[in-house]
Amino acid sequence: MNDKVRIGIVGTGNIARYRHLPCFTENESADLVAVCDIKPDVLAAAAKDFDVPQSYADYREMYEKAGLDAVVVSTPNDVHAPATIAALESGLHVLCEKPMALDPAEGQAMLDAANRTGKVLTFGFHYRHMPETMAARRVVDSGELGDVYMVRVTALRRRGIPSWGTFVHKHIQGGGAMIDFGVHLLDSALWLMGNPKPVEVTASLSQRLGKHPNVNSWGDWNYQEFTVEDQVAAFVRFENDVTMMLECSWAINIPESKENISLSGTKAGLEVFPLSVNKADHEMLTTWTPDWVPGAKVDPGDHQAADFIDSILGGGHPTTKPEQALQVTQIVDAMYRSAEAGHAIKL
Ligand SMILES: NC(=O)c1ccc[n+]([C@@H]2O[C@H](COP(=O)([O-])OP(=O)(O)OC[C@H]3O[C@@H](n4cnc5c(N)ncnc54)[C@H](O)[C@@H]3O)[C@@H](O)[C@H]2O)c1
Repeated sequence: MNDKVRIGIVGTGNIARYRHLPCFTENESADLVAVCDIKPDVLAAAAKDFDVPQSYADYREMYEKAGLDAVVVSTPNDVHAPATIAALESGLHVLCEKPMALDPAEGQAMLDAANRTGKVLTFGFHYRHMPETMAARRVVDSGELGDVYMVRVTALRRRGIPSWGTFVHKHIQGGGAMIDFGVHLLDSALWLMGNPKPVEVTASLSQRLGKHPNVNSWGDWNYQEFTVEDQVAAFVRFENDVTMMLECSWAINIPESKENISLSGTKAGLEVFPLSVNKADHEMLTTWTPDWVPGAKVDPGDHQAADFIDSILGGGHPTTKPEQALQVTQIVDAMYRSAEAGHAIKL
């Protein structure tokens, strides 16, 4: 391989423009050599604005001709599995955007392809690369919390329905608020918990505010074709009597948007956003907050790009492993099945 990892991007829409194209342009060990999109205007703008020499309308042709080492897949969700599997089978390493796939069967096929080819496969769960989440992981790893048995995941937007792309179409995205936004907080929570085995999932969801025109702080969305959920409430039981309660929304009537992961252990509790640790100490109830968190000025997208490049060049493992991304997909899928069936789903 060359000194630098030769990167191609499949899907040059919103997240490619705001995260992957700038982050891989900045990374000194990466060489951004090709872009691919089915929309000619979007493709031409990405190539021009980021000075990328090769452009393709078909990712298979790009994999064959561009001389790549690795690709970023940042297409709508229904293209994640086919574009990722084709890349792995072409001998390329892959950073695929979240969620892993539309459903667990697709995710398993992606994991199998990574195992078969021995290439790096990781996912754009950039919340793991936030300084607070990395600091929280150090606290958990220190054992300070004791045994964590209760976890609360909050991914609530008051009005933040994506107004671009294909986010409101179930057949393209696989779902709405949960598979798009809730997955970030769910993934980070599972990572902090050490990815315990889920045994049962119960959920309910709503398709109410998204189906009618309304005020949205993220612009006008296609409410007439809204076939996904705008809100989810879920209860997940794990092995060893560990419980998670999760609330997620793109739109709901609450006073303000909130994101947090809260872990309660036998010795102490931890809040991630903002970071604090609470416990009983010296005959007092105390809460500490950090005065300074290292990496506060590092962009999570840059950290994620470096993690991918380092795992290719160094031969190590990326922070987000495909088995963990598959677990997120299995839990989200069980939430959707539980909401539809009206009862708990055993895993
Ligand atoms: N990590 C994050 O925080 C984050 C944020 C936004 C989006 N995303 C994820 O990134 C993905 C893309 O989201 P977006 O907001 O950029 O959407 P987008 O609609 O703005 O961009 C997607 C692009 O993919 C292109 N595309 C579709 N099919 C293709 C194909 N077969 N080959 C090549 N290009 C193809 C589209 O033409 C479009 O330009 C989604 O999976 C989404 O969940 C992640």
